[in-house]
Amino acid sequence: MSADPSVLGAGTKAASARVLDMINRKRAGRPLPPDDFDQVITDFVAGCIPDYQMSAWLATVACQGLSTEELVALTRAYTRGGGALDLDRLDGPVIDKHSTGGVGDTTTLIVVPVVAACGSPVVKMTGRALGFAGGTLDKLESLRGFRPYLAPEEIVPMTRSVGMVITGQSAELTPGDGATYALRDVTATVESIPLIAASIISKKIAVRAQGLVLDVKTGSGALIPDYDHSVQLTRTMLDLATAFGLSARAVLSDMSQPLGPAVGNALEIRQALAVLRGERTPGLWDLCATLCRLMLQSVDPHLTDDEAMKRIDRVLDDGSAHETFVRWAVAQGADATVLETGQLPQAARRSTVKAAESGWITRIDPRAIGNATLMVGAGRLTHDDSLDYGAGVVLSHRVGDRVDKGDVLAELHYDTGDADGARALVQSAFGFGDKPQAAPVAVHQIFGP
Ligand code: URA
Repeated sequence: MSADPSVLGAGTKAASARVLDMINRKRAGRPLPPDDFDQVITDFVAGCIPDYQMSAWLATVACQGLSTEELVALTRAYTRGGGALDLDRLDGPVIDKHSTGGVGDTTTLIVVPVVAACGSPVVKMTGRALGFAGGTLDKLESLRGFRPYLAPEEIVPMTRSVGMVITGQSAELTPGDGATYALRDVTATVESIPLIAASIISKKIAVRAQGLVLDVKTGSGALIPDYDHSVQLTRTMLDLATAFGLSARAVLSDMSQPLGPAVGNALEIRQALAVLRGERTPGLWDLCATLCRLMLQSVDPHLTDDEAMKRIDRVLDDGSAHETFVRWAVAQGADATVLETGQLPQAARRSTVKAAESGWITRIDPRAIGNATLMVGAGRLTHDDSLDYGAGVVLSHRVGDRVDKGDVLAELHYDTGDADGARALVQSAFGFGDKPQAAPVAVHQIFGP
């Protein structure tokens, strides 16, 4: 998106002058009128503002915050010039969900087919991993043949035929967010409440599903680790959704340890398929069950908690949630034999990490586990890195478990990369105490009407 400073035309010079003026006003604590947000985002998308000036603008917003009016204006500006999915063409209400992302968090691959199997279509746009947290699109690409990006016009027919769609985020729907998110990623401006809220809600405006459930993570592996700030992010997103006429509920969920035992692309697909075959994996399933219930209730407010849970249990136990996943993945290009035989990519090497002492597990640091998977190629440090789909970590325990010295804590799956460094990082992720420790709850709070 960057303008070339050596060939600045008159329009580009004017855009640069405007963005510098906005930075000065924001830094001085003066309010910015809504039109200024439209202008700066339009200019940036058009390539009239160099990245270094836009980075300074984003950093100023991240430091100074935004008023409610400014946040609404930025969110609207992100969607300018983009399209919207025409989900009204589907017969019934459609549901969307969004998570702020974490480690071992394969919820999308579970809740979307479960809710679809319950008869409520789901359309989910999703992203890739960068840094220690995983990305749904990367996980799905470990299914040979899977097409990660659908054209907007394919989404309605696909939802009609298989009940669900999970597709890569189209930057065409929210061009402003597409352009600024790429820059935020490399300028340490992701972790900002207003910037996260505007980015996520702008995408929800473009999808315009009738039901929306947000999953906001809190804890050391979350984008916003501090509990009170996570609550603030949740409330900010819900208020913003309301300002745009979207009805949303939110879950504040725990990311103080990896959500599920598997961390890594194909490993997480296997984990999701195991849950869809009926395995209620502690932590992971606890959150999925709450999300599925809220998603069903988002389009059927009279559905009681018990009724919703009965439906959810039925589709897990009778195999229809698993069948929905397979039908959908094959419709989106995945090789059916991979799903029938479970032949997902596997790393050639394994190495165990054992407890160096006896005691109760008090800590499993999700960032350290996520970073260990990066060291063996399961994630990406830059946009151009290629992935080892079979690599990752499988944890044998959760916080609160009692272990004896020498018990296996985790297994590293790898082909290449710094396996010794990764093993040391996994070891360092664990903390032990000499007293029983309560396991953290998967769901801290539920927000919304
Ligand atoms: N996910 C998004 O889509 N945007 C953010 O800013 C952070 C997480």
